[in-house]
Amino acid sequence: MASKPTLVLGIETTCDETAAAVIERQRDGSGKILSNIVRSQIDEHAPFGGVVPEIAARAHVDMLDGIIRAAMNEANVGFGDLSAVAAAAGPGLIGGVIVGLTTAKAIALVHDTPLIAVNHLEAHALTPRLTVPLTFPYCLFLASGGHTQIVAVLGVGKYVRIGTTLDDAMGEAFDKVAKMLDLPYPGGPQVERAAAHGDPARFDFPRPMLGRPDANFSLSGLKTAVRNEVARLDPPEPQDIADLCAGFQAAVLDLTADRIRVGLRLFQQQFGPPRALVAAGGVASNLAIRSALHDIAAQAQTTLIVPPPALCTDNGAMIAWAGAERLALRLTDDMETAPRARWRLDETTQTPLKFANTRARH
Ligand code: KG4
Ligand code: ZN
Repeated sequence: MASKPTLVLGIETTCDETAAAVIERQRDGSGKILSNIVRSQIDEHAPFGGVVPEIAARAHVDMLDGIIRAAMNEANVGFGDLSAVAAAAGPGLIGGVIVGLTTAKAIALVHDTPLIAVNHLEAHALTPRLTVPLTFPYCLFLASGGHTQIVAVLGVGKYVRIGTTLDDAMGEAFDKVAKMLDLPYPGGPQVERAAAHGDPARFDFPRPMLGRPDANFSLSGLKTAVRNEVARLDPPEPQDIADLCAGFQAAVLDLTADRIRVGLRLFQQQFGPPRALVAAGGVASNLAIRSALHDIAAQAQTTLIVPPPALCTDNGAMIAWAGAERLALRLTDDMETAPRARWRLDETTQTPLKFANTRARH
């Protein structure tokens, strides 16, 4: 007799999306999304040009119950049917993380269901396995508003960080450049759109870290160079804005290509050939960046996998999926589990890192 699939509710509240989803995982490791409800808080934060933590936490409190109910209804399951409830327990804005984790604990207690405290970065790392059959090890490039990392994904719970940003996250740099140019939040898509009409060669922006033997990123010098040009042009005309965006994006492309090439080389040296290069996070929806990643993967004789945009950006299905992967290994958590603003993905992985990097975020 075929054993029953696991059903997991996932809750995501680490930043400015309130999200819940129910997924099903079969014994053969394949997955199916039964519901995936995401409510973005962009409208609440847009007037401030970025995410305001207090506003985010309050919005999660207001919205989460209704979103969980909607996810359960759409999946047509009751709380008693769940094999586990998973919540992102960090890293992220602590107010939101507390809301999501506490809600998950309450559901787990009331319905006597296992609790799984998921690292939000682990959820991004495992998401491609929900959409395609993908075996370990693979190389993840995660670039969002809060993270910029190259990670060796060796197994569930086994991660080695190969590179990270030493200052701004890549999405954050896009957002800050947009803000300088009075483009609306979130800035990434706006900068990409404006860049399409600009001359990428007009401004000679720096490519920080280019050629370095480690695979770390630095974006603040590039951001400052853009700021200096904006100040000089005061105020920039529409063509200036397009040229500034094109120049900034071209620099990001060059430095990203260089850093990932190095990252893949370091991966190969330590772990052998990766099964794929996986891109995730909001920045992975930038078409120019995707195309650059495609070329780099081909040069490294591997394939590029980019989950569909709705699974690249923050969502509940990725938390539920990571929960299901952990549940399959009996990696559950207890009621003492604390929410965490910072939580390094490779914290508990025992693999020694030959190319260690330290000064870093998360
Ligand atoms: O993964 P995500 O939705 O949320 C988190 O930050 O966790 O990523 C959002 C970030 C924002 O900084 C946004 O400006 C950036 O991803 N982004 C982009 C693009 N679309 C979103 N950056 C560059 N080009 C884009 N097309
Ligand atoms: Zn994220």
